[in-house]
Amino acid sequence: MFKIAVLPGDGIGVEIVPEAVKVLKAIGRKYGHSFEFNEGLIGGAAIDAVGVPLPEETLRLCHNSDAILLGAIGGPKWDNLPVHLRPEAGALLPLRKALGLYANLRPATLYNALMDASTLKREVIEGIDIMVIRELTGGLYFGEKRREETAAGQCAIDTLTYTTEEIERIARLGFEIARQRKKVLHSVDKANVLESSRLWRETVTELAKEYPDVELIHMYVDNCAMQLVRWPKQFDVIVTENMFGDILTDQASMLTGSIGMLPSASLGGKVGLYEPSHGSAPDIAGQKKANPLATILSAAMMLRYSFNLAEEAGAVEDAVVRVLDLGFRTPDIMQDGGKPVNTEEMGDRVVEQISGH
Ligand code: IPM
Ligand code: MG
Repeated sequence: MFKIAVLPGDGIGVEIVPEAVKVLKAIGRKYGHSFEFNEGLIGGAAIDAVGVPLPEETLRLCHNSDAILLGAIGGPKWDNLPVHLRPEAGALLPLRKALGLYANLRPATLYNALMDASTLKREVIEGIDIMVIRELTGGLYFGEKRREETAAGQCAIDTLTYTTEEIERIARLGFEIARQRKKVLHSVDKANVLESSRLWRETVTELAKEYPDVELIHMYVDNCAMQLVRWPKQFDVIVTENMFGDILTDQASMLTGSIGMLPSASLGGKVGLYEPSHGSAPDIAGQKKANPLATILSAAMMLRYSFNLAEEAGAVEDAVVRVLDLGFRTPDIMQDGGKPVNTEEMGDRVVEQISGH
């Protein structure tokens, strides 16, 4: 039995998470696994219910689970609260830190059926399959932050720090994953300007000696942003620090047509966290328009990385491919001739493909 903490969160989170749960249940029935789902409060929903974005009870639930399925958090309603109460800084970041989730895996895979949903030309994106590995518990996100009064007005300070150890463990994962794939690793930094990036580059270069079978390519982040839209097929595995990874993964998502398709896994501690790469999308919340596929594909990553159920993970991913091939589309990936479905119907179509009826 696998214990899953279910944290729907805010906005479209409450619409998409039940679809992924439905899919996991279908997998359980088909392959004879039992999943126990325990729901917890997080983000704005938790602020409204108990006054804090990450209640102790939720943290305990996460620690006592085998994996976590998270929807999305945040929304305009909570944007003006003091920072420590805001859903992002008060819940998501502390949760990542508390669980030791230093490695964020964000695959950007193009589904053939969605080739024309991307704003980029077919020949540029055809066959895209990139794994971006983002460091998730260091850098600017977690460095000291403060304000000072100066003669020039206020001075705001964010600190960007990285230790050799932090760089090495994420780079090692990069090499290991590259080794299982095309054996090419792009390490992205800004070593021409930042000291932390110089340490990053030195550390990655040193570690490369242990992986002579993997080709290591260093790239500056600005160049990488440009190359990602110019010729993304040059990339297979990218490893980078927290902030660069945040930006580059949003960018990489558009190679695949919609950020609504992009799953993610956050690993490194005892309990993995799985969430779509997109946010809570307050603009479409409550309208049944949200695409649940990123969350469903995140559940597939959970099966693969936390439960070691590769066949079951593949079954979910194949079901998604078939549903897309059959033409079913939520509004974000709609094309001429597509069959419009709402959030729930999209989940149902995936379940049908898994169950075979
Ligand atoms: C992401 C998000 C978060 C991040 C925000 C919501 C804090 O953009 O997971 O990419 O910046 O890490
Ligand atoms: Mg982001």
